[in-house]
Formats: sequence, C-alpha cells, structure tokens
Amino acid sequence: MSFRTALCDLLGIEYPIVQSGMGAIAGPELVAEVCRAGGLGILAGLNVAPDDLRTMIRRVRELTDRPFGVNLWLHRDLRPPIDPAGIPEATLRGAQEMLNRFRGRLGIPTTTSRPVRGPDLVDATVQAVLEERPPVFSSALGWLDHGLSEECHRRGIKVMAMVSSVADARTAAAEGADVIVAQGGEAGGHRSIDGKPATAEATTVGTIALLPQVVDAVRLPVVAAGGIADGRGLVAALALGASGVLLGTRFVATRESMAPELYKKRVLESESDATTVTDVLSGLWARALANRFTREYAEAGAPVLPPLVQRSAANDVYIAALKQGDAEHYPMMAGQSVGLIRDLPGAGEVVQAIIREARAVLQALPERVRQS
Ligand SMILES: Cc1cc2nc3c(=O)[nH]c(=O)nc-3n(C[C@H](O)[C@H](O)[C@H](O)COP(=O)(O)O)c2cc1C
Repeated sequence: MSFRTALCDLLGIEYPIVQSGMGAIAGPELVAEVCRAGGLGILAGLNVAPDDLRTMIRRVRELTDRPFGVNLWLHRDLRPPIDPAGIPEATLRGAQEMLNRFRGRLGIPTTTSRPVRGPDLVDATVQAVLEERPPVFSSALGWLDHGLSEECHRRGIKVMAMVSSVADARTAAAEGADVIVAQGGEAGGHRSIDGKPATAEATTVGTIALLPQVVDAVRLPVVAAGGIADGRGLVAALALGASGVLLGTRFVATRESMAPELYKKRVLESESDATTVTDVLSGLWARALANRFTREYAEAGAPVLPPLVQRSAANDVYIAALKQGDAEHYPMMAGQSVGLIRDLPGAGEVVQAIIREARAVLQALPERVRQS
C-alpha cells in the first residue's frame, strides 16, 4: 500500500506526512531529513531575519532536491508588532513583578521597565519567500490574502494555511489556499488563530471533531494536525477524510530538531496530561508542557502583557533558564501526543515508522473488527 493521496500528487511528495515548521526547532537539517524520507519538511521562518531565511532555504536546497515548505506566522499583532508604549502602567508593573520572582530565583537582574518593541519582519520575510520560491508557503496564525496567494501561484509556490476553526478554513480557502491544515486542540504550540480569543476554551476543538467538519467545508486537500504521532494517527486521520497529517511534537524529539536537550528530555519523560493551554509564555494561547513558570504565573493571577510583548518581556528568564539547564522556567511547546513519544530517532525514521505502522494497522483492522 502506497498511501498516495491527493496531497502527495499536489505537492509531489511520496507520503502524506508533513513536519511542522516549528519556530526555533525546524532548521534545514530536520527539513531535509523529512524530505529525503518522502515527507514534506517545513522550515521555520518565525523571528528569522529575511537574509537568514534566504540562507536557510538555500541550505535546504543543498541538502535535498525534494519539495519542501517555509512557514511564517502572519498574525496581525506582528504586522507591525504591538508597541509596548501603550501598555497601562499597572499591567506592566504586575507582569514584571511576576517575572521578577523568576528572575530572582534564577539570579538575574530584576526590572520594571517596558520591553522593547519587537522587530517588524513579516513583510520583508514574505518578500524573501516569494523571491526564493520554495515549493510550499505555509502560514500559521493567519493566512495569505487573495493577492498574495495569486503571487505565490504565479511563482509556482503552493499555499498551505493552518486554521483551528471551520469558519477560518472557509476564509483561508476563499483567499486562495491550496491546502488547509486543520489544527485540533490537542496540538502543541500556538493556536492557529489570527487574534486572541478571551479564553483558552474557545481555542480547543479536538482534532477528531474538527477534521471531518473542515473536510466537509472546503474542496481542498485537508491535513490533520494535533495529537498524531504514529501510524495509528495517520490511519485515523485518513479515515476522517484527511489527505495527510502534520506533526509537531513528534519531530521535537528527533536527532535533527534544534530543541535543546532539556526540552527533548522532558518530551520523552512526559505523559499526555503534562500539557496546559496558557497565554503566560507569549501572550497568545499555546499548548505547552506545564512547569513552575506556567503554574505559578497562573496561580498568582498576574497580568499577562499583550500578544508577543509577553514573550519579549520574559525572554531574559528563558535565556537564563536555558543556560542553567532549568526546564522549570523554560517554554516547552508540546501537544497531548507527548505521552506517545519515548524515543529520539532521526526524523527520516519517524516518517518511515509511521508508514510501516499504518500498513500494519490497516492489515490488522478487518480481523479486529470481526472479533469485536
Ligand atoms: C514546539 C512547537 C513549535 C511550533 N511552532 C510552530 C510554528 O512556528 N509555526 C506553525 O505553523 N506551527 C507551529 N507549531 C504547531 C504545529 O504546526 C502543529 O499545529 C502541531 O504541532 C500539531 O500537533 P502535535 O504537536 O500534536 O503534532 C508548533 C508546535 C510545536 C510543538
């Protein structure tokens, strides 16, 4: 059985397995390894300066001649980044006092000052992607508008949009996406929403409910994301109408992933109830491994700074935690599939194992159905 789907035909890949373009984790080596194994690797463009992204794209091309993608966040609060000057004094003080607790514990200087405004990179990185013409432009937390989708198509670039609701799937499709990624609530990382709902609850429709609804809503190949880490997940997603699967957490724990060792170790040790959906890490809702940082922040009820300003305010804490090997104060995005992940293989082996397992699942299925 080949597992060739419409997604494979559209993108020119062998297997319908996509590796997420995870910020600070998916570099050229990871991407090329997945592509060489027959899947689609996606390069992370988040917070990467345009010229660095060009270098990374060229490096992928040196390592493989297979199709690959480049991922960017298109969130409105990055275009341009929110100006911290507008944050009310009391909010700023409350958030910094909370962060100062962690700073004190890590032995780094405390501060009450305003974080600096993040660099305005999105338009220039979009331009770099258009000029470099990777086979796939993948977007998260927002989608390409009609004009940009057309420009991609003129340049031979396929457009992939990750969404977490049926309404957003319809809109992204109408704006010209070629592939929709349906991100269920189990997924690790940020909820793919262009905005910030008031509560985490509104962001967590599970994959098994969301996926068939998205499949019914759009006439495009749909890729399932969230909670999938092995061949059983691939078969289940195909049964629900998906044309492929996108995995994040599984690829964090691979040899080529750029995640630091303390993070990979936590992924390997954690059960599926170890995650939480929180806004304290970046200011946007994201599923991550719970630790002292996420728990104590939530328990204190301290104010959270606006989207992505929270991330830059806490960055000194994260850097110190990493230097000190302290996973309790380091942000570790991960999904509920974390409880399925117990080894640290090469990324190509992950692709091969999923296909092998999926074949075995399908072979065993008729027998299991008869027995039950
Ligand atoms: C560590 C981590 C970082 C992520 N960063 C990004 C990103 O930069 N861009 C993106 O499109 N998705 C990102 N995601 C989300 C994935 O695209 C995807 O929705 C999710 O990983 C799928 O669920 P899973 O983690 O259960 O496989 C990230 C996920 C993780 C775990």
